[in-house]
Amino acid sequence: MEQIESQLIKEHLPNHLAIIMDGNGRWAKSHGYERVFGHKKGTESVIETVENVGKLGIQYLTLYAFSTENWNRPKREIDTLMNLLISSLKKELKTLQKNSIKLIAIGCLEQLPKKALRQLSEVIEQTKQNENLTLALALSYGAREEIVRATKAIALKVKNNIISIEDIDQSTINNHLYTQNLPDVDLLIRTSGELRISNFLLWQSAYAEFYFTDVLWPDFRKEHLVKALLDYQKRERRFGKISEQLI
Ligand code: FPP
Repeated sequence: MEQIESQLIKEHLPNHLAIIMDGNGRWAKSHGYERVFGHKKGTESVIETVENVGKLGIQYLTLYAFSTENWNRPKREIDTLMNLLISSLKKELKTLQKNSIKLIAIGCLEQLPKKALRQLSEVIEQTKQNENLTLALALSYGAREEIVRATKAIALKVKNNIISIEDIDQSTINNHLYTQNLPDVDLLIRTSGELRISNFLLWQSAYAEFYFTDVLWPDFRKEHLVKALLDYQKRERRFGKISEQLI
């Protein structure tokens, strides 16, 4: 492990890492458990990964914890996920403080149960001065809904003569997204072998590198994170230019 970690180039880590944590249900099924137990195990991977990402010196980490589409799951599963969120926020506040991690949340947060929203707001408030890593939890998040919401907010400003149509550019859109305080995504990891983006950070991932692994989220350990980062470091990001222009 130390050997592969030492191959990482500190100056060339992604500034913003985003993860689609997938495969909790399949992990549970393959071990003979109910789906909800997979989410419990997945929570351990969340905590471990957040700490590892912070220690590596990455500045921003966004985790897809609950999508707008996840509201269509059975009530028992939704309740388990919300209870896990509440208990983890309570229990891990000290971990966030110890590692100077600032928590923020993106998504349609008003849809969350009151108790979850209260706990979330409390931890956000208590960690707002932390400077090491910004951890964004995507909760009740959907990128299309985010873009619709931003469009409405911009349209309202045009209607009220706060901005003119000619003023609208990419930064206007950026500034009306949930992620207005976050940089673009550099690396997007998805676990569990699915090869899709599932309505996650569509605008923000325009130039992201993608990394897919068959590992199920509850099995995702530091070695898998380091492997993804090493793969990222081998890529040449051209942003539409040619190789020679990058030198
Ligand atoms: C995908 O697995 C995972 C989720 C829908 C939720 C992610 C939640 C956690 C990792 C635990 C709680 C999070 C926090 C922040 C404390 P899936 O159920 O879609 O798996 P499957 O595709 O195998 O069915």
